Amino acid sequence: MKENNAPYLDPSVPLRDRVEDLLFRMTDRELVGQLVQYAGPGVSFLRGTGKAAGDEVDLGDNVPHYRDLNPRTFIAAIENGEIGSFLSVYDEGEADALQSIAARSRLGIPLLIGVDAIHGHGMYRPGATVFPTPLGLAATFDPDQAEIVARITAREMRATGAHWTFSPNVDVVLDPRWGRTGETFGEDPYLVGEFGRAMVRGYAGDGGEESVLSCAKHFVGGGDPDNGINFAPLDASERTLEETFYPPYRAVIEEGCPTVMAAHNDVNGIPCHAHPGLLTDLLKGTWKFEGFVVSDWTDIFRLHTVHRIAESIPAACVQSVLAGMDMHMHGPGFFEPVLAAVETGVIPRERLTDAVRRILLQKFRLGLFDRDDAGSRLEADRRGGVGCAAHRDAALEAAAASIVLLKNEGNLLPVSRDVGTVLVAGPNAANLSILGDWSVPQEDAVSLLDAVRAKLGDERVISVPTNGVRSITDEQIDETVRIAKTVDVAILAIGDCSLRFDRDNRSCGENADRARLDLIGRQLELVRAVHATGVRVVVVLINGRPIAEPWIAEHIPAIIEAWEGGSQGGRAIAEVLFGDRNPGGRLPVTVPRSVGHIRQHYRVKPASHYRTYVDDPAAPLYEFGYGLSYTRFQYADLRVAPILGPDEDLRVVFRLTNVGDRDGEEVALLFVSDVIAEVTLPEKTLAGFKRLTLKAGQTREVEMTIARDRLAYLDRALRRRVEPGEFRLSIGVPEVLAANFRVS
Ligand code: BGC
Repeated sequence: MKENNAPYLDPSVPLRDRVEDLLFRMTDRELVGQLVQYAGPGVSFLRGTGKAAGDEVDLGDNVPHYRDLNPRTFIAAIENGEIGSFLSVYDEGEADALQSIAARSRLGIPLLIGVDAIHGHGMYRPGATVFPTPLGLAATFDPDQAEIVARITAREMRATGAHWTFSPNVDVVLDPRWGRTGETFGEDPYLVGEFGRAMVRGYAGDGGEESVLSCAKHFVGGGDPDNGINFAPLDASERTLEETFYPPYRAVIEEGCPTVMAAHNDVNGIPCHAHPGLLTDLLKGTWKFEGFVVSDWTDIFRLHTVHRIAESIPAACVQSVLAGMDMHMHGPGFFEPVLAAVETGVIPRERLTDAVRRILLQKFRLGLFDRDDAGSRLEADRRGGVGCAAHRDAALEAAAASIVLLKNEGNLLPVSRDVGTVLVAGPNAANLSILGDWSVPQEDAVSLLDAVRAKLGDERVISVPTNGVRSITDEQIDETVRIAKTVDVAILAIGDCSLRFDRDNRSCGENADRARLDLIGRQLELVRAVHATGVRVVVVLINGRPIAEPWIAEHIPAIIEAWEGGSQGGRAIAEVLFGDRNPGGRLPVTVPRSVGHIRQHYRVKPASHYRTYVDDPAAPLYEFGYGLSYTRFQYADLRVAPILGPDEDLRVVFRLTNVGDRDGEEVALLFVSDVIAEVTLPEKTLAGFKRLTLKAGQTREVEMTIARDRLAYLDRALRRRVEPGEFRLSIGVPEVLAANFRVS
């Protein structure tokens, strides 16, 4: 029975002693129960009750159907301590109901409740603040933005009974056909790691009532699946794993990220869900990860059904736990075989207690044994509550900072507020695409059309209702052209649709991979037809992955990359279009000219373009790090010490002047390259970045420090080292200044 004076219930007992005391009291069934996660009953039993996230609940891959499970059996499992965690719990009502059942269990171990709060808590929660999707956050090149986003998300989660978010996704994307590109921080391992760290810090906060667990996913290599298809294998050398895919994980674990989710894919033939080398040796051994590993959505079963490395589902469960998996996402089918394997000694008891120890440690750290979620709710309410004005303001700031100006011929932008009439049209002008994946429809989402109308007044803004990105009709193109002939400026919002509830138009997002990288459907046709009228056209891209459309890059005078800016995204774009804000974002991914240019990323080696194609230029449409401003910045007087002594970091000093007539923000991008090395190396590697604000005419002396380790590379024996010799430091995309220095 639960003894009220048991040490594990006493907050004054040291944390680890509490964990050990509880472990000692647990039966095998209770121990295995901690490894089991189920989907919330609203998702798994109440299908079709209107609580569902669009029609996803009936149709989607993300929907569990515990068809054969009787709700009474399910409740009994919680009461018996045979379920330790839930995911996809709708709201605080459901969370409280589940927790009160768990409180009746013999030891009263609280449930850990996880949600996919990927860019805000909008996945199950109408009214939550929806921030830009992570690719947009990365485009800010300002990790502080990401930290704020994570902080607010944590607060809104705790206010609804959730403790754990399956974020950040620190996959490095090398193949943008992958629909989940927008869910990541892009192609550069260092940038991904820095944003991952910021999110981990934000989710953790000060560790109090508003803290949630983060989860680094998907370990490892999901961002470069075969042919760009989610779940497909990764075939990568040890060098590539070390240089590209591992660094962000190392970074977030160093930052204290408490959970890791295994990847769907196999790595060099071994599925991540049954990979002792990755889960046990590397993660928990070499990297000393103290947290726990959770499986991805029923992926343990897929070791049998898809990867076919286990002869049955029970065998798959055993293989996975033996490899180092600590928690099963989700549902029936796991508990019994794992229990049986423990009882027969196939799974050593130490492996089981190790997994449970890791999980309990996090439950204790979150304070779940010591307070209920009421405190978190009060705290969130004190600050304004879920989706409050202050949170929305932060979402607007992040969305505005994420916008990248790709082209501005003849200073067409910003559009003067005195402009006569404007057309705001295109498939993404008035819909919810701006929310991105992992959100339910949000009533407070501001579309571009809403925002431009609010700015200019209804009379001067004309629109043409248009279907989504995949289903534009002849009539809609004709009508858009007809209106375009009558206005002063045409603003066309095009791109992708990542909304999981808009099945017909979905072109991006989880399990929405593409074989091409151009605009889907008839969007290019629409843009060309409007351009042919002779009106000045501004293209606004609302999308979750690079879009390769050379015709647009060449012919359209003004192009804005707005990503999926979240519920305040439309407002942010309008503020940039009409000059209330000066765009300062940069591309966190290379935009290739076509799908045939994959895998193109900025860390290519010199030999990558020693030769070229016969049928198309090899250069990207836009480089990683590219982005313009309404003002101009000038760099001067770059100084680095000519010789870097042993153990020294690199100090870089330069002068930056805003030489235009508007205040603005500039992202200083520093790259390094080792001039001669014993293996072939990328031409340049991002070594540091800083987003700086300068008033018109202002000059700043900027100092940045590059950690010595940023100069290191893996030698032929795969040892990481900084090689003495000549290095090159460069600033800017395109490069504006460079200096050489020596490492002694
Ligand atoms: C995704 C994960 C996600 C999980 C839970 C899976 O399909 O790959 O990233 O956290 O579902 O919804």
